[in-house]
Amino acid sequence: MEIRKVGVVGCGLMGSGIAEVSAKSGFDVLVREVDEGAIEAGRKRITKSLDRAVEKGKATPEDRDATLGRIRFTTEIDALSDRDIVIEAIVEILEAKNELFQTLDPLCGEGTIFATNTSSLTVTDMAAAVNRPDRVVGLHFFNPVPVMKLVEVVRTIATSDEAFDRAFAFAKALGKEPITAKDNSGFVVNLLLVPYMLDCIRQLERGVASIEDMDKGMVLGCGYPMGPFTLCDFVGNDTTLKIAEIMFDEYREERYAPPPLLKRLVAMGRYGRKSGKGFYDYSTPTPVPLAL
Ligand code: 3HC
Repeated sequence: MEIRKVGVVGCGLMGSGIAEVSAKSGFDVLVREVDEGAIEAGRKRITKSLDRAVEKGKATPEDRDATLGRIRFTTEIDALSDRDIVIEAIVEILEAKNELFQTLDPLCGEGTIFATNTSSLTVTDMAAAVNRPDRVVGLHFFNPVPVMKLVEVVRTIATSDEAFDRAFAFAKALGKEPITAKDNSGFVVNLLLVPYMLDCIRQLERGVASIEDMDKGMVLGCGYPMGPFTLCDFVGNDTTLKIAEIMFDEYREERYAPPPLLKRLVAMGRYGRKSGKGFYDYSTPTPVPLAL
């Protein structure tokens, strides 16, 4: 069964990117958000990203309008009943994701695949909560979704070959480079990336070097596109904390333990770029590292 109709639940940073790349690739996209305010914020984010592509000469205004024309928004969960795949990108809370899939389970057709964009929860815990465990997969995208080529396609011990192959082909149809990952918390990339980010915070706590110099070190010494603290602020310190807590809970290994400084930043609402302050202050055109 071919995937033509895509449902995206949650239109935040990741959901809006997933909706955008799906529509850009010609899919019919229906996005579900909780209220009109959230829909407007999501629509704005997608439009801004497409406008940027037009400004850079990577797309024509007609391409942008055609992409936007393929995305519809709804607050009604029932409206997703005709989708061939539903990708959730809501809060990183297992109960919320399970409740969503349990509501959709009797509404959607037999062939509908349920995909989660979770970064650290296990897909199995979602598959076990519905009556279609064989059609539940992970589709883990990276931020910024329109730019990053990778999608981790995650299979559980219950995922059917047929559902996995369809999800993998769908990721390819989005112009992405999918890789196969087993259902370990963190899959492949976050399993390796998150301990690195947490370790950098620990080294900062120890006073190894300044935020700026550690960032410079990894950019100029290793050719990373961003230093670790710029990356933490980019991903969101609240998101990184949540991921670290879930991974620490799963593995009980020190390297996944959230460092105290990360907790303090989140307690103060210093989530990074999105809140204006994190390891850096973003109120000026050039971000200024903060004294921590
Ligand atoms: N939407 C669309 N396009 C974007 C964009 C966005 N949000 N952000 C950047 N771009 C495009 C720009 O238009 C530009 O395109 P061009 O080269 O064709 O002109 C290109 O990306 C480069 O952007 P900029 O020149 O503005 O800036 P940079 O060269 O600094 O690149 C970056 C920005 C692509 C974000 C780069 O710094 C980068 O790759 N950073 C690392 C990001 C990363 O590690 N992401 C993974 C995070 S972990 C994750 O997502 C997992 C989750 O589970 C936590």
